[in-house]
Amino acid sequence: MHKHPSSTSTIETLLSHSSCRSFVDEPITEEIRDLLFTAAQSAPTKSNLQQYSFIEITDSNIRDQLISFFPEMKWAITAPLLIFVLGDLHRNQTICEWANRTYNAHHQDAFLNASVDAALATQSLIMAAESIGLGACAISKIREKIEQVSDLLELPKSVFPVCALAIGYPKLRPGSTSPRLPLDAIRHINKYRKPSRELIKHYDAQFNASYGPPTPRYPEQFGSPKTASWSDNVSRQTSVCERNQLTAYLVKQGIIEKSKDEPAE
Ligand SMILES: Cc1cc2nc3c(=O)[nH]c(=O)nc-3n(C[C@H](O)[C@H](O)[C@H](O)COP(=O)(O)O)c2cc1C
Repeated sequence: MHKHPSSTSTIETLLSHSSCRSFVDEPITEEIRDLLFTAAQSAPTKSNLQQYSFIEITDSNIRDQLISFFPEMKWAITAPLLIFVLGDLHRNQTICEWANRTYNAHHQDAFLNASVDAALATQSLIMAAESIGLGACAISKIREKIEQVSDLLELPKSVFPVCALAIGYPKLRPGSTSPRLPLDAIRHINKYRKPSRELIKHYDAQFNASYGPPTPRYPEQFGSPKTASWSDNVSRQTSVCERNQLTAYLVKQGIIEKSKDEPAE
């Protein structure tokens, strides 16, 4: 953990974050669950529209179904607390109907607002959890079968899964925080500065020195690199169009309109 002389416990929690992927079999009390969701709800939300929801999974049949969809994610699905984070335009749409107003916010702006609300609430929930000794990991893998997950959770139109959250008391003490890019790479002053190859190279070297090279992504497509690195993985992952079914799903859910540029089916 990086320490700063004036660091507060909040800043220490933020700086010592590390995703946790193995949990002891110890339940999380109802009181703590309430606390976590209440902390999440305190996050800022666009115009206080609060366009997100959480689904806490307590039904073992639903967990079993999820394991059948994602067998390799059993460690997450069986976590003491499993939550689905949803972007939720449905609640406010219903409120609009109650007021006899036509809902006209089906577009990318609403999608972005709901996604940001969901992300901020998620981060607050994770930080609240870590501040009391719990470990957590966000799981976007669940979007790889977004239709099946949606059906299983009976999501109405205008609701979409953002990620799941696996939470529990850590089995192992959380590892060291993964090194992030040098501040200069993400902090621009006044105007946007193009990425510096030197800084990225420096980060790759620093990452490998403290963590060892990462597992190369998509080796079946791109082979094995001489030296795996963070940036090599970035280019491998972003040259594959992952989850390309998302646009069709969002159109079907009524979240976004079909692009006028897209050919008709
Ligand atoms: C939206 C989101 C989705 C994620 N999905 C997954 C996932 O499907 N599987 C997983 O093992 N980790 C997942 N993670 C965790 C990231 O891999 C992790 O945050 C990142 O590697 C940085 O490591 P750290 O959180 O330990 O600092 C996700 C994180 C976020 C924010």
